[in-house]
Amino acid sequence: MKTNKIHYLSGLAIATFVGIHLFNHLLSIGGAARHIDMMNALRLFYRNIFIEAILLFAVFVQIISGLKLFKENRKTAASLFDKLQIWTGLYLAIFFIIHLSAVLSGRLFLHLDTNFYFGVAGLNSFPFNLFFIPYYGLAIVSFFGHIASIHSKKMKRPIFGLSPNRQSSAIIAFGITLTIVIFYGLTNHFNGVTIPKEYEVLIGK
Ligand code: HEM
Repeated sequence: MKTNKIHYLSGLAIATFVGIHLFNHLLSIGGAARHIDMMNALRLFYRNIFIEAILLFAVFVQIISGLKLFKENRKTAASLFDKLQIWTGLYLAIFFIIHLSAVLSGRLFLHLDTNFYFGVAGLNSFPFNLFFIPYYGLAIVSFFGHIASIHSKKMKRPIFGLSPNRQSSAIIAFGITLTIVIFYGLTNHFNGVTIPKEYEVLIGK
């Protein structure tokens, strides 16, 4: 099978999880407990050994195939969406490596429940937030930017009078708005979150 076909198929599996994952983060606007309740419910599905193995394997395949496509296409990318696709892809590959190493280390070595508090400890403490705001923000926007680039290539017709390129711009605008709303929730409406004692190890306390 060709690299771009493999990349597309593993990308579909990952995008399904990420859609659910971001919906989970969105629920934080209703408070930490709401986020944790939903994550506990969703874990019954994605923490199932079979599903999680497929997901982690898909991420591995996505990174390897993505880096190969990045090398092949970097010089020939001409349009704005071509460029957006390869650079958001590169960022997502780096993000996946860091994010999954962090989550898996948190679980296996620190023996922490990698829930809401694990995800947002750095986001809610200075100076760690100087890293975590762009790190998470760029990840969500890159995810939508990557999808928008693919959409601009695959879509051939207008929807509600919007050209394919405009539809892709709308996908990016949606991603940026969602990022802002998710950050609003993950920082408890910008008031900050009180990090429980067992998670303080993540922020050097
Ligand atoms: C504000 C942004 C984000 C935060 C705070 C966050 C936080 C977390 C947390 C806490 C977990 C552990 C889940 C669990 O224990 O059940 C996790 C897992 C994961 N996240 Fe994120 N995440 C964010 C964005 C993303 C994005 C944008 C992607 C992908 C593009 C992503 C991909 C993943 C994957 C693949 C897992 C592993 C799931 C597993 O095997 O258990 N995350 N994330």
